[in-house]
Amino acid sequence: MRNKFYITTPLYYVNASPHIGHSYTTIAADTLSRYMRHVLGDKNVWFLTGSDEHGQKIQRAADEAKLSPQDFADKMSLQFKELWKELDISYNDFIRTTEIRHIKTVQKVLDILHKKGDIYEGKYEGLYCTPCETFWLESQVSDNLCPDCKRKLERISENNYFLNLEKHQAWLLQYIKDNPSFIKPESRRNEVLSFLLLNKLEPLCISRPKERLSWGIPLPFSPDYVTYVWFDALINYISAVGSFDEDNKYISKWWPADLHLIGKDILRQHAVYWPIILHALGGIEQPKTIFAHGWWLINSDKMSKSRGNVVSPLDMVNKFGLDVYRYFILRDVPFGLDGNFSEEAIIKRFNGDLANDLGNLIYRTLTMIEKYYTGNVPELDIFNIKLDNSGEKIKQAINDLGIYPLLNLNFDFSLALEKIWELINMANKYVEETKPWNLAKENRIEELKSFIRLLVEVIRKVAGEIYPFMPETSKSIIQQIGEDKIKKGKPLFPRIDTSKPVT
Ligand code: MSP
Repeated sequence: MRNKFYITTPLYYVNASPHIGHSYTTIAADTLSRYMRHVLGDKNVWFLTGSDEHGQKIQRAADEAKLSPQDFADKMSLQFKELWKELDISYNDFIRTTEIRHIKTVQKVLDILHKKGDIYEGKYEGLYCTPCETFWLESQVSDNLCPDCKRKLERISENNYFLNLEKHQAWLLQYIKDNPSFIKPESRRNEVLSFLLLNKLEPLCISRPKERLSWGIPLPFSPDYVTYVWFDALINYISAVGSFDEDNKYISKWWPADLHLIGKDILRQHAVYWPIILHALGGIEQPKTIFAHGWWLINSDKMSKSRGNVVSPLDMVNKFGLDVYRYFILRDVPFGLDGNFSEEAIIKRFNGDLANDLGNLIYRTLTMIEKYYTGNVPELDIFNIKLDNSGEKIKQAINDLGIYPLLNLNFDFSLALEKIWELINMANKYVEETKPWNLAKENRIEELKSFIRLLVEVIRKVAGEIYPFMPETSKSIIQQIGEDKIKKGKPLFPRIDTSKPVT
């Protein structure tokens, strides 16, 4: 299919409730999907999200909850679905790794790679972190602790199945060099390139013996093993949108993915393992772009259950409103970098950008239309008449403003919003400069009319541009400034009084 956009989020682990980090990737994907639907039409965008339900983490959390892993996963994946509903996430499909369509595809992939010899049986001896399900080399470890979670490592020796990564290393290196848009941003691309240049890729252990972990997809060629959760999960990107035919050819209307949106923590799996799996399968196209964004931190620290600093997106939405939350997380930090999350930072954006800038522009414009024109939007084609200097500049800015290519090329949400706010601020300044109350007093009717009409054009433009970021606010602005009549409501963003606690 041409002219399509297939975008994915990671599949979130269902071992714990969703937090702001999960909502970040999903809101970014939602914003891009809405924007692409605007550009390409509804039918040409496919937005996939879902849940990652196998493996040790889930097994352990299910044990603690005294539920079977399947019942536990059912319950938890519902929490994610409910959250996405609250956050107005416009996904097209939600895949769970415990669904048959997924399991069948994973087993097919395993079979193909096993028959080709890319997956082979071998012995593993070394260090293993059970909670992280990760094997570590002696050289990577000091003091016998997991470099990731700092828990004690176990020494194990067992037969397992491995994917030969090294065989494809030279190909991958060249592929990344030849395709500058494959990994973004640039800093992450360089990170993967230097990793591939400096290290020999070790075989990836893709199985776990059932006696140690039974909660996984059984290997089709060896009944005593289940599939390693990462090998299983990555395949969702193809299992959700297609299938293999009798000749083992993968058929899909949507593949290749145009964008895998991920956090920086899972770059290696997406930019090394996943391309190699696809390449080893033979003839399956690579995703067009893998974009790794940064992390939300709390006081520069990782969010974690044990630190007790996990922030729930629903709490933020209940406190500040959905669009405020969506705006904040896409505006406050350039996409790709880490940011510090705090309620103070949200309030600052709220009172500044939303109440003072956007809210004020709308409210004062509506008030003037009410006062000077009894609520009727003055009719005038300001693009066909000459305005004063500042007015002409604003007209130009309206015509120039287009977040669309900007977002498309760089995924720079923050910059896109900044550009929209430049227009809002120009308009607010224009009000202060022009002093419309004097125009009214002095009976300069034509000037007043073109002035107000220009503000209306700015607001309509802004409403359209912010739609992908703040869908409800956009609709409500368009409702308030109707085609010919206004419908003034309460101020959209009443200032938050910082001297009182926010409830
Ligand atoms: N299940 C795997 C992904 C498999 S994809 C085939 C996984 N799941 S996860 O639930 O741990 O989280 C995945 C994603 O959540 C991260 O890659 C990132 O996109 C997002 N975030 C989790 N914590 C985050 C922050 N603190 N900040 C920003 N995003 C983070 O890994």
